Amino acid sequence: MVGHVFARPRPHHMVGRRHIRAGPGPPGPVPPVLPPVLPPVLPPVVLPVGETVPPVVGMVPPVLGLVLGRTPGPGTASRPMYGERRVPSVSAMKHALITGASRGLGLALARSLAADGWALTLTARGEEDLHCAAFDLDTSADVTAIAGDVTDPAHRARLAEAVPRLDLLVNNASGLGAVPLPPLAGYPLDDLRDLFEANVIAPLALIQATLPALRARGGAVLNISSDAAVEPYEGWGGYGATKAALDQISNVLAVEEPGITVWWVDPGEMRTRMLADAVGAEEAAAAPEPETVASALLRLIAARPAGGRFTRDALE
Ligand SMILES: NC(=O)c1ccc[n+]([C@@H]2O[C@H](COP(=O)([O-])OP(=O)(O)OC[C@H]3O[C@@H](n4cnc5c(N)ncnc54)[C@H](OP(=O)(O)O)[C@@H]3O)[C@@H](O)[C@H]2O)c1
Repeated sequence: MVGHVFARPRPHHMVGRRHIRAGPGPPGPVPPVLPPVLPPVLPPVVLPVGETVPPVVGMVPPVLGLVLGRTPGPGTASRPMYGERRVPSVSAMKHALITGASRGLGLALARSLAADGWALTLTARGEEDLHCAAFDLDTSADVTAIAGDVTDPAHRARLAEAVPRLDLLVNNASGLGAVPLPPLAGYPLDDLRDLFEANVIAPLALIQATLPALRARGGAVLNISSDAAVEPYEGWGGYGATKAALDQISNVLAVEEPGITVWWVDPGEMRTRMLADAVGAEEAAAAPEPETVASALLRLIAARPAGGRFTRDALE
């Protein structure tokens, strides 16, 4: 699949200096590794106040990744919109890879980390949603958006190649399984296999692919679990079984890899599409916003406690 760059017109005060270039290449032979320092391909976008940036669709030849960011290079990057505001050099920034970052908890956490000065590599299947999400992040952040399915080994290889320096892997992307949520007695087994592929195999495979980078920097893995991993909710047996498996993978990984930190977190109910798909939009609307969980996760990441399982309540 050949991707494209998607950009919404943005008002001048939100633009900053942006660099858009090709990310990792298409499926098939593994493409060249992203260089650690971002070379600008397009000149900085500087428009008179009030004007908007034209959509970049068509400006760039077939592109599979989207990189938005500030001026690369050491020291202070001068940005017309922010005057003397200091930002860390690219080499000093911490890098995080977040799966499922186009909406819900993944996007909320991406916003929190971007505002905290992290460089981000984001992924989700829906390319347009992912690129919109990437554009809406803090303009001082270095953001690479690479659309694809985490169950696809070639996509995972592209992601791993995009993060030769990695401080945090967030396995957040997740499927819900068959809906309406069926009892185990009639659970469609092909759906269950697919769910294990997305919620268990893919996160472990991504951990395997990024372990060298994580070990090199004493990084951390954050796996997003669920209370359905431990509670006997009717209809949630398939999804809950995948989260229980992810919990135990996290548990064992934490002792097998003492050079990295492994957290697995039950975020509690959140007002997201996944919950709406499961219980209906009306009931989901009563749940807390994912931003509240993202704030708690940011505190966890900053405090860097020893590995283990955490619930949202414990993180408050
Ligand atoms: N919401 C809750 O109440 C709740 C409760 C407990 C735990 N959780 C957990 O919290 C995490 C986030 O859930 P959420 O509620 O924010 O879900 P969401 O709103 O449905 O967002 C899921 C994200 O994952 C992406 N995604 C799904 N499957 C993918 C795949 N195979 N490859 C790549 N990206 C994929 C989606 O984008 P695309 O569809 O475009 O790929 C989207 O960006 C999940 O691990 C979930 O199990 C949620």
